[in-house]
Amino acid sequence: MSIKDAIATAVGSGKPRAVASLTPEHGEITVSSILESPEIHRLLHDLTTMVGREDPYAWYGKLRSAAPIVRAEDGALVVSRYADCHAVMRDPRIGHASPDQLAYLGFPNWSDHPSLRLLLNTMTTMNPPDHTRLRRLVSGAFTPRRVQELRPAIVAIVDDLLDRMSGDLDFIDAFAFPLPVTVIGELLGIPLADRPQFQSLIHDLTQVAEVLTAEALATADPAAVTIRDYLTGLVEERRTKPGTDLISALVATGDDGDKLTEDELVGMATLLLFAGFETTTNLLGNALAALFEHPDDLRLMRDHPEAAPAAVEELLRFDSPVQIVSRVTLQSTQIDGIPVAAGERLVAYLGAGNRDPQRFADPDRLLLDRSDNAPLSFGGGIHYCLGAPLARLEAQVALPAVLHRFPRLAPAGAAQRRDSLRIRGFLSLPVNTG
Ligand code: HEM
Repeated sequence: MSIKDAIATAVGSGKPRAVASLTPEHGEITVSSILESPEIHRLLHDLTTMVGREDPYAWYGKLRSAAPIVRAEDGALVVSRYADCHAVMRDPRIGHASPDQLAYLGFPNWSDHPSLRLLLNTMTTMNPPDHTRLRRLVSGAFTPRRVQELRPAIVAIVDDLLDRMSGDLDFIDAFAFPLPVTVIGELLGIPLADRPQFQSLIHDLTQVAEVLTAEALATADPAAVTIRDYLTGLVEERRTKPGTDLISALVATGDDGDKLTEDELVGMATLLLFAGFETTTNLLGNALAALFEHPDDLRLMRDHPEAAPAAVEELLRFDSPVQIVSRVTLQSTQIDGIPVAAGERLVAYLGAGNRDPQRFADPDRLLLDRSDNAPLSFGGGIHYCLGAPLARLEAQVALPAVLHRFPRLAPAGAAQRRDSLRIRGFLSLPVNTG
């Protein structure tokens, strides 16, 4: 059966299947199965309400203990335990279906939409060997050494943003959003004057990454055209007049005659722009909100910047900006010993895995010096976040600096949460600088 057929039959088939297995220690029959029940459907639905958004962690606990794999009402399989999320992201039999194979989730004419064409033609949704090739070409120009070289620039950008902050303000607007936008703008070589427009353009474009509706497409498509045209122009400019920025490096990159095509260059620049924006914004926002609720930890972060690397890992684990990754089984496989057929859509709840008591002692406690900490927040396997060193560095510089500059920084009103399960964060986080 082709993967296309398999997906067609799998989506919505929704039948629980039971597999009997012998447990050697006990010599008795146990039943491991993909669980599907009205309770599970309700639980998954509750997670999509604003109450679930506010604090999904209690729901995640129920999900983890219900079964290793559950089937959602739309037919997708959900894993929520740390070991299973970890395994799903590393299993070579699990990957991405092409947009055509997924008929792209109700929009079979997906390629008529500039937003979907731009977003679905990037390496995040590709399998080897295409993914391997693109990742190799970009990672050469996006090394941890290059990221470390950005430290002085990040310190300067942070200081500049802090200089402009005073009194009552929204932390997201004033700091958590402009910091990553400015850093990625510097890295890619987007001229200063052109950067502000990207805030709303990327916001509009990523509407389709959240819920794919005709309305979201109507917002995202014009933004995609503007972004594509702008970046195509920038790539052209760098081809004739190279600079020291990442776009110039990507234009020049390549080995054995292999180079990124024009489309691939624009796709890659777009991916770096949108993958680096909102995720890092939400890391900063979620981290500050968690520190407000844990004043001792806030003081530790303020007075001991050397504790920041471990603290940032723990803040990533405690409230991950990316809660979910999606995959498809390319071949039949097993997850936690349970057979899973080819063509199943899979969703790994990273935020649930990050609070799994089987992996983390006292998982609901924020322990900034937690040892043996390996959160799932940057994904895993071949798609492991390319920007992880950059995101970590930004947070390690920014959080102690904010708290040091404003020792009496405090919440100043009700924060507004994003209505999203995939991306967890705040639309606004009112603070007073003290
Ligand atoms: C706190 C901030 C960030 C978080 C939590 C985060 C999280 C993630 C996760 C979970 C994935 C894996 C997605 C999957 O497996 O389906 C990913 C992939 C990726 N991230 Fe990030 N990210 C962050 C910041 C950044 C930044 C700053 C950049 C770039 C400047 C970036 C670029 C990428 C790219 C290019 C990929 C795709 C890698 C591939 O497919 O091989 N990310 N990120």
